[in-house]
Amino acid sequence: FGGQLIEIDEVDSTNLHAQRMLKKQKVVEGTVINAKHQTHGRGQMGTKWYSGEGLNLTFSVILFPKFLTLEKQFYLSKVIAIGMVEAIEKLSIFNVKIKWPNDIYVGKDKVAGILIENSVRGQEIEHSVIGVGVNINEQDFGIYGLGATSLSMEAGELIETGHLLQSLLKSMQKWYLMLRAEKYFEIDDAYHHRLLNYNQWAYYEKDDQVIKAKLVGVKNYGNVVLENEIGDLSEYGLKELKFII
Ligand code: BTN
Repeated sequence: FGGQLIEIDEVDSTNLHAQRMLKKQKVVEGTVINAKHQTHGRGQMGTKWYSGEGLNLTFSVILFPKFLTLEKQFYLSKVIAIGMVEAIEKLSIFNVKIKWPNDIYVGKDKVAGILIENSVRGQEIEHSVIGVGVNINEQDFGIYGLGATSLSMEAGELIETGHLLQSLLKSMQKWYLMLRAEKYFEIDDAYHHRLLNYNQWAYYEKDDQVIKAKLVGVKNYGNVVLENEIGDLSEYGLKELKFII
């Protein structure tokens, strides 16, 4: 990843920039678009992603995971998230977890988010834009502060963003190659290991109802499997369930 690294001072969204590039030119797999500032940063489920100028990382990686069938598409999110946790742990920050479906947490606070946008043709993923936003040197989240943290707040020192970008790209690439090599067992093992609340009782919210359940698995296409107190299993989609932390 990052063989082609495009650095931009300001853009609407690196994901949108990547999609425009894919429309109009030939793009090498692993191309990275990194922006200092996004005017229309996008988050999951139509939300906005705000990021203080020059303080954090907002970038997108372009991939062509043609080998991955649609029903296994969530593996992309898994390998990216595992790679991110590994890179963050290298900063001697601990208690870094993946919060299903697409967030990275340190303790009870969110430190990074992933927005994957796939273009699908038939049963194949033609291209995938992996958008990553990491709070790095932000110290004050203002009104968005509740439940948010940054790596420097956790590490107690400023972090060099360029160096961290390289480290993130390296470990994300390592796990992407594992996926290409079809090492599903190793990936699932690493994922469960880092998954927040895995096999633990916790509370979730669905349609304004609170459910006490144990997260026992994540399906290949992204749904989560919860076990309730009498041992029944139920599957929930990406938009159906809220985690209560
Ligand atoms: C989320 O947690 O809601 C996902 C946030 C993803 C933000 C990143 S920043 C780089 C890339 N470009 C975007 O517009 N969004 C993603």
